Amino acid sequence: MVEPMYPSTRSDREVWLKEARYNLFNLLSPQVFIDLLTDSGTGAMSQEQWSALMSGDESYAGSQSFDRMKEVITSLCGFPYILPTHQGRAAENVLFSVMVKEGHVVPGNAHFDTTKGHIEFRKASAFDCTIDEASDTTLYHPFKGNLDISKLENVMDVYGKERIPMIIVTVTCNSTGGQPVSMENMKAVRKFADRHGIPVIFDAARFAENAYFIKTREKGYEERSIREIIREMFSLADGMTMSSKKDGIVNMGGFIALNSQALYREATTFNIMFEGYITYGGMSGRDMAALAQGLKEASTFGFLESRIKQVHYLGELLKEAGIPVQEPFGGHAIFVDATRFLPHVPREEFIAQTLAAELYLESGVRAVEIGTLLADRDPETRENRYPRLELLRLTIPRRVYTRNHMDYVAAALINIYHRREKITSGYKIRYEAPIMRHFTVELERIG
Ligand SMILES: Cc1ncc(COP(=O)(O)O)c(C=O)c1O
Repeated sequence: MVEPMYPSTRSDREVWLKEARYNLFNLLSPQVFIDLLTDSGTGAMSQEQWSALMSGDESYAGSQSFDRMKEVITSLCGFPYILPTHQGRAAENVLFSVMVKEGHVVPGNAHFDTTKGHIEFRKASAFDCTIDEASDTTLYHPFKGNLDISKLENVMDVYGKERIPMIIVTVTCNSTGGQPVSMENMKAVRKFADRHGIPVIFDAARFAENAYFIKTREKGYEERSIREIIREMFSLADGMTMSSKKDGIVNMGGFIALNSQALYREATTFNIMFEGYITYGGMSGRDMAALAQGLKEASTFGFLESRIKQVHYLGELLKEAGIPVQEPFGGHAIFVDATRFLPHVPREEFIAQTLAAELYLESGVRAVEIGTLLADRDPETRENRYPRLELLRLTIPRRVYTRNHMDYVAAALINIYHRREKITSGYKIRYEAPIMRHFTVELERIG
């Protein structure tokens, strides 16, 4: 699909950003030149996907498009029970309605914001058990999405098995920088979970990218195909929630996939209530047809290599210029360490958000804050939670931009880096929602 681009001037952007109350989610797409807000639902579909769309079976019950999608998911991931949902957070909502209760503790590797939101909404808590190496952006570790088994042991000792409904493994781990989890670590989590009788659920939005990193970084997997690696990964889980907007390369969709028929039956009731009947669950037949094709394309080495190498090309440009970025580079985005980029902005003034606003004003490039705004307030104390990493995420949509666009983004950030000493203040909050505030927050400039 060829889409228009919208150039603008700095003075246009000054006005638009103020009108958007310094929240980049509030910008209109024609106010954005290059949109690196997210890789979620923003990819370009292939000709095979567009033609699959035309074959969509829109029957309310028994849609053949559902059967086709189910076949692809089961052959790729191994799970026999599939429930479609309209997107990833809907899959979380349905599955957690069955599994997560008040007082529960859900350990995992840096839960994504919607995942944490759905846990905390049920008066349960998410416990981050990511390895410490993940929060040092200067340190090389090939699998910064890994879970620390001793942290899992600790959660078990403190809360006991009865309060732990599942362990969530996010592949790749978005919140630590699109960082992968190794097969070795997944096996260790499985072993731990089996010892205590706890289910393991993968938050699998970028499972194919994770498989690429296993193939290219983990000993013993060099000669294995992406599909074989994916199959082995999922053999270590009891189920998955999926945002198909990432490695399904569709604009909308999600699903739950499970081994347990009993769990599937319980989840079915919530799926019908919240999403729709079991053979469409919030998706149209044509979207399920496009997803079936997208999953096949995303699980090929050729696609993954070109995608991930494009992301890394941008990372290299920034690194060469001395800009502090999370290393090694992740799968779907380059994460700039905003605290090291803007050392004079106090953390109470939202460092990564300040950098996101500067980047937009400089160039019309929209990136996203993965920092204090996203981390929300502590549900009990209502104090700001300051995450270990304050990051600016430059997220690359699949099959949309060229290297030339990457060069432009890098040039813009490098310009800001050269004048970083002059940026000494950030923003304060004028309005915020009680949960997941970053989407709708309104800000005011300080100074
Ligand atoms: C790791 C992860 N899990 C879950 C979600 C939620 O998916 P969705 O946006 O489709 O609701 C996202 C979305 O960005 C994600 O990155």
